[in-house]
Amino acid sequence: MAPGEANTATAGAPARRRRVLLFPLPYQGHINPMFQLAGLLHARGFAVTVFHARFNAPDPSRHPAYGFVPVPDGLPAGTPETVAATMEHILAVNTSCEAPFRERLAALLAAPGARDEVACLVADAHLLALVRVARRLGVPTLVLRTGSAACFRNFLANPVLCEKGYLPVGAESQLDAPVRELLPYRVRDLMGANSRSRHEHELMCELLSRAVEAVRSSAGFVLNTFDALEADDLAATRRDLAGVPVFDVGPLHKLSPASSSSLLQQDRSCLHWLDAQAPASVLYISFGSLASMSGEDLAEAAWGVANSGQPFLWALRPGLARGAALPDGFAAATGGRGLVVGWAPQEEVLAHGAVGGFWTHGGWNSAMEGACGGVPMLCRPCFGDQMGNARHVEHVWRAGIALDGGVLERGAVEAAVRRLMRGEEGEGMRGRARELRSRAAAAVADGGSSRLCVDKLVNHILWL
Ligand code: UDX
Repeated sequence: MAPGEANTATAGAPARRRRVLLFPLPYQGHINPMFQLAGLLHARGFAVTVFHARFNAPDPSRHPAYGFVPVPDGLPAGTPETVAATMEHILAVNTSCEAPFRERLAALLAAPGARDEVACLVADAHLLALVRVARRLGVPTLVLRTGSAACFRNFLANPVLCEKGYLPVGAESQLDAPVRELLPYRVRDLMGANSRSRHEHELMCELLSRAVEAVRSSAGFVLNTFDALEADDLAATRRDLAGVPVFDVGPLHKLSPASSSSLLQQDRSCLHWLDAQAPASVLYISFGSLASMSGEDLAEAAWGVANSGQPFLWALRPGLARGAALPDGFAAATGGRGLVVGWAPQEEVLAHGAVGGFWTHGGWNSAMEGACGGVPMLCRPCFGDQMGNARHVEHVWRAGIALDGGVLERGAVEAAVRRLMRGEEGEGMRGRARELRSRAAAAVADGGSSRLCVDKLVNHILWL
């Protein structure tokens, strides 16, 4: 028996089922938390089998203890480039994986002893079709949502928000109106506030309602957040989901053995570069795995950073600016105080003492990793939950600045970097970010809220 494993095989009682099946949505920001959850459950004595699309497939050799079942998806290789294409892609993953997943799951369940071994499927909230397949084959389901509790409340409230006329947004002038049903969100912070057509609006509504159905029809809901960060939103989610147990087990990357689920090769040399920098002096810049920006925005971002005079580490993902490169003269202007890499070991970078600020797109994993690193954030949200996350960083956590809306302008970037990294205001944000780090550490320590939720989750799965 693995250390920490709950022993439920008491005399006379039936042995409990101990294999967990997982199906991540095949994007980096969804794969990471799913593999962190896998690590957590594996460390508690569960066997793990990962079903996965061929698109962005994980590398089984990095997880020798797990079983892997590839599910053909027939999807084109490239990452979707627009918000609408991303939403269509999510729906296409559902449609194209449904039949092959049914076949493979049925085959797995037909193996001798499998029915007595498989406890449940944990699927990403965006994989309703696969949740339904599992249930029809008699496998209980749990759902992992990789965003915040506040964001899931936005999912739940979406029909009412549309009914009340907040969405689709009719005019620019509505963007700053408060959303009374979901404070402190303003209209601009809502999922789908930046939909550019009726088609995009309808796609968003469909995605959100499918995710809500996946959660409501499942035997449990796992969220990568923690009580001291989102107590009110978690309480409201529990009220709204009466009957579906909610497990706030985050920050997952602090509880689970280091995940090696990165799809891109992480350039670890930047950690040595950071070792040589002064404490809290470096601005780390990364816009996550999906967000993109125009060549003009990239140039404005670059000159803003250059003109701020701040040391920086930039994880400039290939494809971020659709082929555009950093402007001519940028390297010479920043020589010696900046490092640009393609992809960084982000969790470690944000935990490094030399990093004093994080310019992020505000993806939830990044926001959690920034909070756990005790690092204040400059958020430039692009789509989806990122606007709401930026609102929380600035307005609720008061641990950063939101740089949202409109085109990027180098003067505004320079001023925001200075506010974040220097002076009293920066110190205040840094202090509150460090407070978040302490709360996250308490949540994952022995007896902490997330630890207790993991115990409950383990027990829940064993008794499904
Ligand atoms: C998107 C959404 O924005 C996010 O809110 C949702 O929950 C998942 O999908 P993404 O754009 O990928 O996610 O951003 P984020 O959630 O921040 O995840 C990015 C992940 O990639 C993080 O775990 C981060 O550590 C990792 N990363 C990023 C690296 O390992 N190296 C890098 O250089 C940059």
